[in-house]
Amino acid sequence: MATSPAEPLKRPPEELNRAVIFLGPPGAGKGTQAKKLAVQYMVPHLSTGDMLREHIAKGTPLGAKAKPIMERGELVPDSLVLKMVRERIERPDCSHGFVFDGFPRTVAQAHYLGELLRQGGFRRPLVIHLVIDTDLILRRITGRRMCKTGGEIYNLYERPPKVEGRCDNDGGELVQRPDDREEIVAPRLQAYHKQTEPLVAYYRRLGLLHDVDASKSVEDVEQQVCRTLQLVRGKL
Ligand code: AP5
Repeated sequence: MATSPAEPLKRPPEELNRAVIFLGPPGAGKGTQAKKLAVQYMVPHLSTGDMLREHIAKGTPLGAKAKPIMERGELVPDSLVLKMVRERIERPDCSHGFVFDGFPRTVAQAHYLGELLRQGGFRRPLVIHLVIDTDLILRRITGRRMCKTGGEIYNLYERPPKVEGRCDNDGGELVQRPDDREEIVAPRLQAYHKQTEPLVAYYRRLGLLHDVDASKSVEDVEQQVCRTLQLVRGKL
């Protein structure tokens, strides 16, 4: 049922009150699941990839530095990413928690985030590790198309639009991300294995990591994520 505009904003029945981190290789479904969870708990969805792409679109100095790096499939230096993240989570809309998608991506970023969360009085984060095979990753990345106006995500194989090349919601043009071209996928995966995958062991050692089988359908993965949250609530 649609919410009347006059109705006051409701808090969800249960508050998140922590950071949830979606960790996994490119194309694993971090953005898809992070958005759903953020809507469910009425907290911000914080995608560092989206933030950087916004800087590029606006032509900011940060965007100018990040653009060639992202187009090569490499990670943007911590020095640029950390300030951007700190400024974002210090905004009042993050006071009930938030969902990270694509951050942290290095052990240094994870240390920095741990410190920020402690200073902000948040509980320890919950890390959802999306586990998926490389074959499926390639299919998901090369099939992805994004609405140029609203940002809605499609997949030519799994979730095609009703009209080819056009967004179902607003008719916007569907485009491919520059780094989703096949030749950029290998360096992105390399960056993941070298710089981000060590976070799996890092968060597992801290007892914060939960594996989820990301090869299943969007709905199935969503259910696994919900179940994980229910299981760990109050324990961390
Ligand atoms: P970023 O935008 O974070 O990209 P990524 O991590 O490579 O992840 P993707 O967005 O490709 O995939 P995803 O896991 O979100 O999957 P999605 O849900 O979209 O980063 C881009 C770049 O920015 C980096 O390379 C780096 O340069 C820079 N950057 C960002 N953060 C940084 C940081 N912290 N530090 C340094 N640099 C940083 O799904 C993919 C496709 O699959 C979609 O088409 C979707 O519809 C489909 N799909 C999703 N789930 C399912 C499912 N269960 N079944 C079938 N299809 C599915």
